[in-house]
Amino acid sequence: MTIAVTGAAGYIGSHVAHLLREQGAHVLAVDDMSAGIGARVDSFPLVEIDLARDEAPGVLRAAFAQHQVRAVVHLAARKAVGESVEQPARYYHQNVAGLANLLTAMQQSAVDRLVFSSSAATYGMPDVEAVDEDLDCRPINPYGETKLVGEWLVRAAARATGLRAVCLRYFNVAGAGRPELGDVVRANLIPLVLDRVEQGLPALVFGDDYPTPDGTCIRDYVHVADLADAHARALAHLEEDERPHDVLNVGTGRGASVLEVVAALAEALGREVPVEVAPRRAGDPPRLVASVDRIHDVLGWRAARDLADICASAVEAERHRAGN
Ligand code: UFG
Repeated sequence: MTIAVTGAAGYIGSHVAHLLREQGAHVLAVDDMSAGIGARVDSFPLVEIDLARDEAPGVLRAAFAQHQVRAVVHLAARKAVGESVEQPARYYHQNVAGLANLLTAMQQSAVDRLVFSSSAATYGMPDVEAVDEDLDCRPINPYGETKLVGEWLVRAAARATGLRAVCLRYFNVAGAGRPELGDVVRANLIPLVLDRVEQGLPALVFGDDYPTPDGTCIRDYVHVADLADAHARALAHLEEDERPHDVLNVGTGRGASVLEVVAALAEALGREVPVEVAPRRAGDPPRLVASVDRIHDVLGWRAARDLADICASAVEAERHRAGN
């Protein structure tokens, strides 16, 4: 059976595509190659298309028929929070119109299984120890809004058309399942700290006066290989279960502060990493940690890797990148 993976040339998508193939599936990569890396998908059949374009449903229909696609994992989206604040129309167009086009093509092709890439950015600034999926979502930026609207659209399609879908709300994804699939976008804490170390500069810590034990923000860092495994399990669940629609957090259930992440990176690097405290960054919740009971109940999934594994694999991917 063939599974289409949109965004397969990206950081998370490439992990998903490679894992599904290792597990015996045929994978059709769908990507506009705007941010992806060709080498990550050059061993897969590829449909190069921007899903938000008007011709996308027709192109997808033809590809789904040609490759006998049975299910879709949809990751293709724009994901820079700051950029989404500056260019909301572009984000809504890419992320929401892209999904609408995909759902249109799926319905026309009778492809009725979907795993949708959502985000903990849907929650906004929750003031709780651990966020569960029933919490009210109040996103605070257009990126998070597009993911929440995407979930609504998926739910509406599930009701209207019998689509079976799982929406996965990713927490802070990091690490590399293999060195050549590491994150090349230098936007998140771990790659940014590694870049600073490379330049001989101290790690920047955005605020140390938050109401947390060490004053720095707490997040739930999940290894990208564990996240890929959650997608594989979600697909298997859609094969078995008649329930049409689930929303599931993907995290570890454990929080780590910025200073704890820097310390874990220092350990993985085998050297000290000095820190410099910078002002708070706008829009950062002090604490964002997943409740992971539901994904364990529904998919039997738990993260197998911890922060040390994440940092070790990120450092290894960094060395691989520097060597190329
Ligand atoms: N941080 C620093 N120094 C840096 C970079 C980040 O102190 O150089 C801090 C941030 O202020 C924040 C924490 O590290 O407190 C994590 O920041 P990231 O930018 O790595 O991640 P975010 O939690 O802001 O956002 C990430 C993804 C979003 C996603 C969200 C979901 O980037 O796309 O997780 O929880 F929506």
